[in-house]
Amino acid sequence: MRFLITAGPTREPLDPVRYLSNRSSGRMGYALAEAAREAGHQVILISGPVALPAPSGVQTYLVETARQMYEAVQTHIADADVAIFAAAVADYRPVQMAAQKIKKETAALSLTLERTEDILGSARSVFGFRGTLVGFAAETENLIPHAQEKLTRKGCDLIIANDVSQPGIGFDSLENAVTLCLPGGQTHVLPQQEKTALACALLTHIIRAAGASEKNPPHE
Ligand code: CTP
Repeated sequence: MRFLITAGPTREPLDPVRYLSNRSSGRMGYALAEAAREAGHQVILISGPVALPAPSGVQTYLVETARQMYEAVQTHIADADVAIFAAAVADYRPVQMAAQKIKKETAALSLTLERTEDILGSARSVFGFRGTLVGFAAETENLIPHAQEKLTRKGCDLIIANDVSQPGIGFDSLENAVTLCLPGGQTHVLPQQEKTALACALLTHIIRAAGASEKNPPHE
């Protein structure tokens, strides 16, 4: 199968030397890309700025901003059977990037931010993607209800929910623990383990979901 995977954070520039971003390391998305390639699948990885080497045998596109990630996904998603959105995309960006470095001239500084493109939310509605759609939900409270709501709202076949309030897992960690949320309210817990091991377990569930969504294609 052909996989498209997003990974890492995005950076939203404020001025030539500053940006808004988050603590995503990209490890979960990169581990998924490697697991899929090792299982013999074709993989396109669209990655924000991370400190990881590009996985061998994976077609990797590096981007910085949410808008660039949106455009890269738009270009490549039609070729995919399975799309996994593991990137921690910034939800807001500064309305304007200052042309020059912002000087500390005032006691306080307010930034005006605008929403970025919702890439996962555009997969079905804008890009017309009909393959298996997998999203992540990083939550600090009400993990399962929030994840189930995202599953429905973004038209996903599977949401991988992780509780980012727990120390030692999730953002910028080597390990993760997740709960899979499926349409119909079923859930499945994958306990804390290294992201590389977790990626292999997730791939099995994602391929199972791909089989199920082939039987029940979206919008039919
Ligand atoms: N996502 C995306 N584009 C965005 C924001 C999020 O593609 N602009 C994707 C992420 O890659 C992830 C999923 O959407 O797969 C959930 O992201 P999250 O930020 O947790 O959820 P939001 O829908 O942004 O909801 P909220 O901020 O209310 O938690």
